[in-house]
Amino acid sequence: MEKKILEAIDLTRLPRHVAIIMDGNGRWAKARGLERTAGHVEGVNTVRRITETASELGLEYLTLYAFSTENWNRPQAEVDALMHLIVVAIERETPDLIKNNVRLTMIGDRSRMPAEAMRRLEQCMADTSHCNGLTLVLAISYSSRWEITEACRLIAAKAAAGEIDPADITDATVAANLSSAGIPDPDLLIRTGGDYRVSNFLLWQIAYAEIYVTDIYWPDLDADSFGRAIIQYQSRERRFGLTSEQLQ
Ligand code: IPE
Ligand code: IPE
Ligand code: MG
Repeated sequence: MEKKILEAIDLTRLPRHVAIIMDGNGRWAKARGLERTAGHVEGVNTVRRITETASELGLEYLTLYAFSTENWNRPQAEVDALMHLIVVAIERETPDLIKNNVRLTMIGDRSRMPAEAMRRLEQCMADTSHCNGLTLVLAISYSSRWEITEACRLIAAKAAAGEIDPADITDATVAANLSSAGIPDPDLLIRTGGDYRVSNFLLWQIAYAEIYVTDIYWPDLDADSFGRAIIQYQSRERRFGLTSEQLQ
């Protein structure tokens, strides 16, 4: 990261958790006359770069939206290419994750994942389970509505079994039954590719996240742009519904 940018970041006030909607791979490729898949291949390099930057800065959690429930409806060849990339990237990057003390976890519907991709992911999660630096959360086969619906099902089953009283259900009960249970809510949500939408990502968890949208396509996002997002985040006043005076 450029020295000037690094120096502008207040390392004592970092977001604990940054979540990113990695968008724009297809447009990046199209702009170069390449197949969409070439954008996904380049996007994997950005995953590596941003994970390293987040880890070096000392962030606790980085969640990357890699594949949504709705993305299953893309052309089969693109879905297959993305799943294959996940397998290859996980296999290739596991040693460096361990070296950088990064723990991998996953949120999303594991039952829809191809067996081979799931096997590699599970192996990488097991191999990095002892790491206590950055936690990298991959959202794969993930959508927030899927996750919230699953939580409802789990809570309803516990209520039906007499394990919980419906009157005792709080927002903490809901949070504890999401696939993100135990992970603090994101402080900063970044979307690349310039679109101002959330695309079914962490709807419950981003209740008070600061949102940062950049026109940069995901394959082009570098450490400096990531640093700029954090600087912008640090300039915001997070009021959580209170007045500015109350925060003084
Ligand atoms: C994001 O890039 C990656 C995934 C959704 C898997 P896109 O593939 O959505 O790229 P654009 O938005 O079409 O440019
Ligand atoms: C969001 O990107 C999902 C991921 C980054 C995995 P999409 O490209 O699928 O979202 P839309 O279609 O622009 O809303
Ligand atoms: Mg897109």
